[in-house]
Amino acid sequence: MAETESENLTDITAFQLLGFVGLGDLQIPLFCLFLVIYIVTMVGNILIIFLVITDRHLHTPMYFFLGNLSCLETCYSSNILPMMLANLFYGRKRSISVTGCMLQYYFFAILGVAECCLLGAMSYDRYVAICKPLHYTTLMNGRICLQFIVGSWINGVFVMSIVLYLMRQLKFCGPNEINHFFCELNPILKLACSDTHFIEVVTFLISAMCILLPFFLTLASYIFIISTIMRMSSASGRKKAFSTCSSHLMVVSIFYSTLMIVYILPKTDGLRNINKVLSLFYTVLTPLFNPLIYSLRNREVKEALRKAVAKLCATERIHHFNLV
Ligand SMILES: *[C@@H]1O[C@H](CO)[C@@H](O)[C@H](O)[C@H]1NC(C)=O
Repeated sequence: MAETESENLTDITAFQLLGFVGLGDLQIPLFCLFLVIYIVTMVGNILIIFLVITDRHLHTPMYFFLGNLSCLETCYSSNILPMMLANLFYGRKRSISVTGCMLQYYFFAILGVAECCLLGAMSYDRYVAICKPLHYTTLMNGRICLQFIVGSWINGVFVMSIVLYLMRQLKFCGPNEINHFFCELNPILKLACSDTHFIEVVTFLISAMCILLPFFLTLASYIFIISTIMRMSSASGRKKAFSTCSSHLMVVSIFYSTLMIVYILPKTDGLRNINKVLSLFYTVLTPLFNPLIYSLRNREVKEALRKAVAKLCATERIHHFNLV
């Protein structure tokens, strides 16, 4: 008896990620769908990084933010999607070492926190540009922009290193199946056989701070922006500005609200069951829609893209002539 008990208490070294096991025939269509999403996300974001770096017209705070957001999204997607795709493709659960699992969560959370902060900073940038245009160059110059960007990253690394340290103290001895498509915090905590109360309180406080503060900053900025737009004299300008702002507001709200449901609301059984679906919004759909909605709809980005393509065609042609 004593022996089996101590056997049960041996630390497990690997988790099993269940992913979407049990979907049967849906697995391959889902694999194709997520593969397309992953490719479009990577191409869209890398294109924006390329345009922001190479086109001198895009060297303004707003595009530096967008370029950096795209860098972030590329890493964010690449941390989650390849493993999820492999899970779907092979149609079986996947083994991942405890350390690997914690590192996946660590990188996911650093990028998530940085993204929350960056989206907040971007909405503040738009607020200054639209509501305080005369002060824009003093309130939002290159140095301040860099501080916002570096600050977002440092904040993410700092708070998540605390969480990682606390996670490393946990003991895992029981069941090792994670019913999720990546190593998310709550399913990991559920498997721990040591007390998780302290880490739960810490992560709750961190989530509340890192999600709610930027969310309210964003909300306040957009309320001011929309009220300024409403007072604009030209009807067509009003319509265009309004459509831009409402699409930004929509992707941002979906991102923040799904994060809030998963990380801040009490973890009832009903919510636990839909968490896997909700996390698709902030892990898969946000990185896909951000570049499409923030950048590629934008006139200046379209112009930069057109020039880049024209240049590419021109060099192709010269190359061709040289060959013949
Ligand atoms: C990120 O922001 C920095 C500082 O504002 C800027 O110099 C850099 O070009 C940006 N990176 C991208 C890929 O946009």
